[in-house]
Amino acid sequence: MYYPDDLVEEIRLRSDIVDVIGSYIHLSRSGANHIGLCPFHNEKTGSFSVNGQKQIFKCFGCGVGGNVITFLMKYDNMTFPEAIKVLADRAGVALPEMEYTAEEKKQNQLKQQILQVNKEAAKYYYSVLKSPNGKKGEDYLKGRGLSDDTIRNFGLGFAPHNANLYNYLKSLPEKYGDDVLKASGIFNFSESYGVRDKFWDRVIFPIMDANNKVIAFGGRLMSEGAIEAGDKKIPKYLNSPETEVFDKSRNLYGLNIARRTRAAYLILCEGYMDVIALHQAGFDMAVASLGTAFTSGHATLIRRFTKKVYLSYDSDDAGVKAALRALPILKAAGISAKVIDMRPYKDPDEFIKNLGREEYERRIENAEGSFFYEIRMLEKEFDLDDPESKTRFCTEIANRILRLEEEIERNNYIEAICTKYNLSVESLSKLVAKQAMKTENMEPRPIIKSGIHDKKDADKLDTAKRNTQKTLLTWICDEPEIFDTVKSYIKPADFSGELYIKAAELLFEQIEEDARKINVAKIIGCFTDEDEQTEVASLFSSTKLDMSDDEKPEALKRLIIKILEQVAQRINEAAADGDIEAMSRGFVIKQTIEKLKKTDLKKW
Ligand code: CTP
Ligand code: MN
Repeated sequence: MYYPDDLVEEIRLRSDIVDVIGSYIHLSRSGANHIGLCPFHNEKTGSFSVNGQKQIFKCFGCGVGGNVITFLMKYDNMTFPEAIKVLADRAGVALPEMEYTAEEKKQNQLKQQILQVNKEAAKYYYSVLKSPNGKKGEDYLKGRGLSDDTIRNFGLGFAPHNANLYNYLKSLPEKYGDDVLKASGIFNFSESYGVRDKFWDRVIFPIMDANNKVIAFGGRLMSEGAIEAGDKKIPKYLNSPETEVFDKSRNLYGLNIARRTRAAYLILCEGYMDVIALHQAGFDMAVASLGTAFTSGHATLIRRFTKKVYLSYDSDDAGVKAALRALPILKAAGISAKVIDMRPYKDPDEFIKNLGREEYERRIENAEGSFFYEIRMLEKEFDLDDPESKTRFCTEIANRILRLEEEIERNNYIEAICTKYNLSVESLSKLVAKQAMKTENMEPRPIIKSGIHDKKDADKLDTAKRNTQKTLLTWICDEPEIFDTVKSYIKPADFSGELYIKAAELLFEQIEEDARKINVAKIIGCFTDEDEQTEVASLFSSTKLDMSDDEKPEALKRLIIKILEQVAQRINEAAADGDIEAMSRGFVIKQTIEKLKKTDLKKW
């Protein structure tokens, strides 16, 4: 859904940022700003500042910032349209209706009804658990160490052997039809037996999507008897089938809670009980893929929340296999992964029970990077005492190193692997180069240790340049009186990069129209990507200049010269490539700089 800019702006105007953010976190007034604890990183002192006048927020601790829309996108991990919808509802602004076909309308209605049924079912199972009839289930969950709070937070329930959810739902005033109940997947319809509840004599784990809607259920047997007897007909866990509202490979158990974690990462585990045990121990960032292998759909979902995952899969062979399958999928989605070692325990649930939360915390700190983990698992397939086998192992390592994109990354790994396996850096580097030649369509990459971190240096330089530009843009915002002077020297196109140019264009336009109506939050609203919004916000919330009015003209002059010099440098680079137009523009800019150096800017 694409909303027109005017509408977005109207919704934003009607959503006061102090009100909105204040309804999520505690803010206290401090001068022109409101200050609070930053919800995006862990801190004890408030560096999170909300500016009601500019309608933007900014954290001076972690750098995140933006307008009211950015806040919701980040805080609740919403997409741009989702955030707009929430704000529109809150402000009472009507959004244009989407155009649906009759077929789509019907399907939508069915989805809504299934969600209703699921919600009622979850309530039913929970109330049974809390009733005398639910003692068996409650005893089981308590026996596994779950507290009342945990049971409530996860909405756990009980389906007794005589469960009759069907009759219960039929008794409700909504009068759900059999077609809806069938589509919900939680009943078995058969010619010979009629309708039966799918879940009975099991504790119930409602599965919620990221927006807290119950989309499915898992039910666990309470006695290990049938499982131990190897009775395959009675599975330990029984899950809802896929339905209109439940797509296994796109949902993660626990994400509805984990999405609000302050941690910068998620912990990915295998089972319901693992997630619940971790949350109870304070690890509110735990999620699990359910009764199914990890898919790229899961990875895409995770990517909306974080770029960092800790795997806490079972430590048995099946768990290792599952981890080895999940790692490349995470990597392909741009998520970096580490693996938590839970030995000697099988899964996080057992680990926490035996060694406690501090030890688990330590295991998180000591988690192994995915590359080393994969190599360590690979090692098991080779006999390192046998020279031939060891060579094959090294060749495989070389192949994996080749898959790394950055040269510096490759070099770092070569070094680390060599230290770990007692190999010589030179020979592994040679092997990598040799494998590179072998690989078709692949330029042999020079694997020479440079020692210079080119990229980092370049980044640092960029940061300095960018800060200069930010200082100027913030200054214009705070003191529009300088605009006339600035604009006679600097054009929006003189800023570096598309984002800066677009933001400067918008700011310049606003001032040309009416300097009293600078609207930073509106400029931020022209960007729909949250990282871009944060970047744009930072353009206008750079540190305030602390100087007397007399010092200002000279400071402004120096600032303008600095930026013009950056422009000249960029033009020089283009001119060096033989761009004639660039040469003449470069000449003009250099003249301007010289002239400006000899001029005293007027006070404003
Ligand atoms: N699972 C399943 N069906 C099974 C066994 C497992 O769907 N027959 C899924 C469940 O989601 C389960 C997860 O796989 O939570 C992990 O399975 P397992 O390690 O066997 O179970 P645990 O989570 O350890 O469950 P418990 O501690 O209750 O035995
Ligand atoms: Mn377990």
